[in-house]
Amino acid sequence: MTQRIWNFSAGPAVLPESVLEEAKNNLLSLGTSGIGILEHSHRGKAFLAVYEETEALCREIGGIPSNYKVLFLQGGASSQFYQIPMNFLTKDRTADYLVTGVWSEKALEEAVRFGGTHTACSSQDKNFSYIPHECSFSANPVYAHYTSNNTIFGTQWQSVSAAPGMPPVPANVDLICDASSDIFSRPIDVSKHAMIYAGAQKNLGPSGVTLVILRDDLVERGAKDLPTMLQYRTHAKNESMYNTPPTFAIYLVGLVLKWIKANGGLAGVGEINRRKAGKLYAYLDQSQLFKPTAASDSRSQMNVTFVTGDADLDAKFCSAATKSGFDGLKGHRSVGGMRASIYNAFPEAGVEALIGFLQKFEAENAKA
Ligand SMILES: Cc1ncc(COP(=O)(O)O)c(C=O)c1O
Repeated sequence: MTQRIWNFSAGPAVLPESVLEEAKNNLLSLGTSGIGILEHSHRGKAFLAVYEETEALCREIGGIPSNYKVLFLQGGASSQFYQIPMNFLTKDRTADYLVTGVWSEKALEEAVRFGGTHTACSSQDKNFSYIPHECSFSANPVYAHYTSNNTIFGTQWQSVSAAPGMPPVPANVDLICDASSDIFSRPIDVSKHAMIYAGAQKNLGPSGVTLVILRDDLVERGAKDLPTMLQYRTHAKNESMYNTPPTFAIYLVGLVLKWIKANGGLAGVGEINRRKAGKLYAYLDQSQLFKPTAASDSRSQMNVTFVTGDADLDAKFCSAATKSGFDGLKGHRSVGGMRASIYNAFPEAGVEALIGFLQKFEAENAKA
């Protein structure tokens, strides 16, 4: 087999090798069924068992209370950007948006179509390089929406399990989180949210499935005059099987959840993620050549963004890195420089290898 290389892709991203091996073994026959995982009917016993196990694991690992639904939908996190306001926002009400990057901007742009919006905070003034410390909410928002990790800019709300790190939302406001790029990478207090959603393709599995966790009263509250597929109640009533769900993606999410459990659950992977990011930032902080772009109190543990300050040197670095087996390090065009995406499944050994390569490049390109 071709040697696997260090894959720093922002998504779809690296998956645990043990997960890929297991999926490979089940392609021709899921267990002893004689039918491959891709070929099983979503209504059949074998897939229903996979589905039930995946949902149960999700609830166990995420500590999801029983008054929340767990749905596996399609259309990516981007479809949630419009499905949320379509269901909950009306022309006479206001939804608040915490704008900390391109993805939260996109979510806000969709909400504007359906009702009033209010920007509770924004870090646009400094190219989204920080997480604002203060927000000002509207009088009675129908919900407040935030992006827990800003994939492009390498910033992250610092903790979602303890009040000080969460957006300072008034207690009675329903909080909705786009957790696409840090879902299940650290402990999360689901009960402090009305809804959490995430495309699976960074921390949970392949592209093609979106995890949606939402409180029962929101399911009920959703608009009833929408197309059937766009109402959350349709999917809640039918255990995500109103239509054919993305069976293979759900199966892989189940395998990744088992892997998370085997690694100590969210506390366990959270500790590993903290250590991986900590090593990389520690190197960048003392480097004379590379500088992190995110404010030090806002740094993401998932996407580490950095620059040399010289676009040509950045390009030289990315090209040298690719040749040496470090793929996907080029930063997003709106930030430039480099971005190392080190989600759950990215190995610590890969972070150490990258640090070694950065050191070597720095020694070879030291400023006189
Ligand atoms: C934070 C965040 N939200 C939403 C999206 C869009 O997700 P999707 O491509 O699943 O629609 C992304 C994609 O990278 C993201 O990083």
